[in-house]
Amino acid sequence: MADFDVIYIGAGPGGYVSAIRAAQLGLKVAVVEGRETLGGTCLNVGCIPSKALLHATHLLHETHENFEKMGLMGTAPTVDWARMLGYKDDVIGQNTKGIEFLFKKNKITWLKGWGTIPAAGQVKVGDEVHNAKNIVIATGSEASSLSGLTVDEKTIVTSTGALTLGNIPKTMVVIGAGVIGLEMGSVYARLGTQVTVVEYLDAITPGMDAEVAKTFQRILSKQGLKFVLGAAVQGATTDKKGATVTWKLRKNDTEASLEAEVVLVATGRKPYTAGLGLEALGVEMLPRGQIKTNDHFQTNIKGIFAIGDAIVGPMLAHKAEDEGMAVAEILAGKHGHVNYGVIPGVIYTTPEVATVGKTEEQLKDAGVAYKAGKFPFMGNARAKAVFQGEGFVKILTDAATDRILGAHIIGPMAGDLIHEICVAMEFGASAQDLALTCHAHPTFSEAVREAALACGDGPIHA
Ligand code: NAI
Repeated sequence: MADFDVIYIGAGPGGYVSAIRAAQLGLKVAVVEGRETLGGTCLNVGCIPSKALLHATHLLHETHENFEKMGLMGTAPTVDWARMLGYKDDVIGQNTKGIEFLFKKNKITWLKGWGTIPAAGQVKVGDEVHNAKNIVIATGSEASSLSGLTVDEKTIVTSTGALTLGNIPKTMVVIGAGVIGLEMGSVYARLGTQVTVVEYLDAITPGMDAEVAKTFQRILSKQGLKFVLGAAVQGATTDKKGATVTWKLRKNDTEASLEAEVVLVATGRKPYTAGLGLEALGVEMLPRGQIKTNDHFQTNIKGIFAIGDAIVGPMLAHKAEDEGMAVAEILAGKHGHVNYGVIPGVIYTTPEVATVGKTEEQLKDAGVAYKAGKFPFMGNARAKAVFQGEGFVKILTDAATDRILGAHIIGPMAGDLIHEICVAMEFGASAQDLALTCHAHPTFSEAVREAALACGDGPIHA
């Protein structure tokens, strides 16, 4: 008899959420995790610590920018970096302990150590082999480095090192204007670091709705971030003072370089599957290093499943969670399903940026006749009251049916506002459905309704 119905490898948002759901559905569950704490990259060195630093530095920025405007006088606070990092670590601790509590509550066994799969149905942790009917690989991803530079997590850092720098640097070069580069770049810019973001493409946040990306870049530039676009970074060298990053401008091949105390490499992540023994098992992989799975998250080997960053799709904690829920349902003999058309993406800067569904560019490319309803936060009383009138909500609908195809928000609480539209899309709603829904006044959400109205007879406050 197997020791467990299912063993998960990895206790990140994919693995731990799936384990809880599987246990709730009556399965006997174990999770292998080699880190000292549960929660994976997201909780330990990713989403959660970065949000703590974004929160603290946002408040600092507010004291400089807006306090006097509201009659809040006095000297602005100074930064005790060690304490700020301590606050961030407390936040991590509270959350990782929370998962430990949930594991106990759901009678999930934590197998501490790094797991390998010697054969289907077996997971080896240390010297012990545990048997399981099914195995779910939820090992996540790691930062992908760049040729021509060596990450030491002190001078040349990934997002992990950027969360524990010894000092606040005076200068920083961020390589890559993606999510990590802009979130962490924002943190340091607010702390007074001179941040230069060097990006390969001609726009920031590749793949995002172009109008949002353009507005976003303008706002971040006003906040002090500098951008060098269309620049392919060649490498970086270090010396006692810091590092020198060299790039080539793609349009004319000219070389340029910049010195900085710290360089953050944020050029994407790659699946983390090394050391599991997948090659020996004959688990099929995709060219970009992801584990190949079918619609039920099953690999080509019976009884071995994979979810999250280790398989195809956006590398997002909530995508991994949803796949985790679905695979748990499947393993319990139910029907798990993920709607990949309605996965929101959020950048937690100020303002926040949130997006779901199709962009205008995608709709144009696909030749879809669409309508765009847009509403600026300048027309939203609540946003103006809190100095967040920049940005807009844009809803894209099918021109013939009014069905919502996508939405793109840059503005206050965008990461929360987007979910109203996600729910609407799940229900196949039209923009008119949203527009006919009473929205409390004064809320940021009214901007969503106004954008929905803009898809029809027009918004009220614009
Ligand atoms: P990313 O894929 O978002 O952005 C990487 C950027 O680096 C791209 O703009 C790319 O064009 C650029 N780049 C690549 N090579 C370059 C070169 N040689 N020179 C200059 N630029 C170059 O990757 P990022 O920001 O590292 O994030 C990794 C993953 O983590 C992403 O999938 C992201 O979705 C996820 N993440 C999500 C967060 C969220 O949901 N808020 C927060 C942090 C990370």
